[in-house]
Amino acid sequence: MEKHANFGSRMGAIFAAAGSAVGLGNVWRFPMEVGNNGGAAFILVYLLCIVLMGLPIMISEFVIGRHTQSNMIEAFRKLAPGKWWRFIGILGIFVAFIILSYYIVVSGWTLYYTYSSFSGMLMDNDTDYGAFFGNFVANPWLSVLFAAIFMLLTHIVIARGVQSGIEKCSKVMMPMLLLIIGLLVLCAFSMPGIDEGLRFLLKPDFSKLTVSAVLSAMGQAFYSLSLAMGCLCTYASYFGPKTRLMSSAVSVAAIDTFVAVLSGFIVFPAVFSVPGVEANAGPGLVFQTLPYVFNMAFDSVPWLGYLFSGMFYILLFLAALTSAISLHESVTAYVHENWHMPRKKAATLVSVATMSFGVVCCLSFGVLSGWTIFGMNIFDLFDSVSSKILLPIGGVLIALFVGWYLDRKLVYMEVTNNGTLSGRFFGVLLFLIRWVAPIAITSMFVKGLLDML
Ligand code: PHE
Repeated sequence: MEKHANFGSRMGAIFAAAGSAVGLGNVWRFPMEVGNNGGAAFILVYLLCIVLMGLPIMISEFVIGRHTQSNMIEAFRKLAPGKWWRFIGILGIFVAFIILSYYIVVSGWTLYYTYSSFSGMLMDNDTDYGAFFGNFVANPWLSVLFAAIFMLLTHIVIARGVQSGIEKCSKVMMPMLLLIIGLLVLCAFSMPGIDEGLRFLLKPDFSKLTVSAVLSAMGQAFYSLSLAMGCLCTYASYFGPKTRLMSSAVSVAAIDTFVAVLSGFIVFPAVFSVPGVEANAGPGLVFQTLPYVFNMAFDSVPWLGYLFSGMFYILLFLAALTSAISLHESVTAYVHENWHMPRKKAATLVSVATMSFGVVCCLSFGVLSGWTIFGMNIFDLFDSVSSKILLPIGGVLIALFVGWYLDRKLVYMEVTNNGTLSGRFFGVLLFLIRWVAPIAITSMFVKGLLDML
């Protein structure tokens, strides 16, 4: 039997898990949600959700992964042999596959926008960027080509393995990403809209805090931390015995939240710098509104506009890549370990299968836009079903499994590294896992269902 892979260092493990968490969810989805839900009050609720719900589930996944040293399906099979709990693992890996197939589509857009920024296409005052985006996504060749390039890059990293692929790549890309964010925040502070942007982000207006905003904050926290998809469980199976589960989870959640909030500090000063652009522009905020904003804001120094917009889309691309890698690994680890296939072959199989679904998602903005189910095209269907239905179900089940089914002693031993670390917060943690997280997520789930009907 082949030895199970391991991350080479504790730092590497944290970077890899943070790489999974920091993704399009932080730079694209978070500012959009903040914009739609009224700013600072939403951020406060989001932070609460991270602590009360996100952290406990992340630690639960870490416990399952490190204890079993297995991919998600195998992990549940080992911990609950012959019981129906093993469907949690199957569900997680299935969702990872579905999410990956549409994630590569948006990731392909980030590549195309990076290219467009540096080639000057995004720096033309007369362009209508709504139409620019619409024409691009409706062009089957271009959108498939960029998604395929992105898939290929993900594949190369996965095929190289855990230490020389995933860990090495995260250790290089995460610091790069943090550096770019820092530079962009500095630029944002020199924009005319900085005061209004800061007010929007820092001054809570609780009258805008509707029930739906609270539930959206929960959904966002869940998505952003990459919970319930086997990614963190799989990565935790590569953690060594000395990795501290609680403090690693806190670091990952802190990095993830930091990047999300800083993305807000980049996007909103830019948005408020241009009259007539609304903060609540929705999904188009990053791809349709921002190019326009960069253009106007840097009207007098166009080269700075090139640079700002180019760096912004590289940031999105890097964030997307490390997340896609974790989704890919969640599926590949299963195929590699349980189907006894060499890693490279398993990775190829997963890449080809994902790309086939990815092509359908790409085309759902153009030639296949007529194919709808419940009024949604394939891309929206994949997104809605996975994040609003399957993820919450997986999350609740993971919390119930660790909180109620697993032996309390086993969980304690994992969290305290066999009693060598202090177990001071264990009681609080268990309470969050048993009660708070399942109840909070169930309400999010009901809201998701009501939204869809
Ligand atoms: N957390 C990632 C993001 O913020 C998305 C993701 C979800 C990645 C699930 C892996 C697994 O974009």
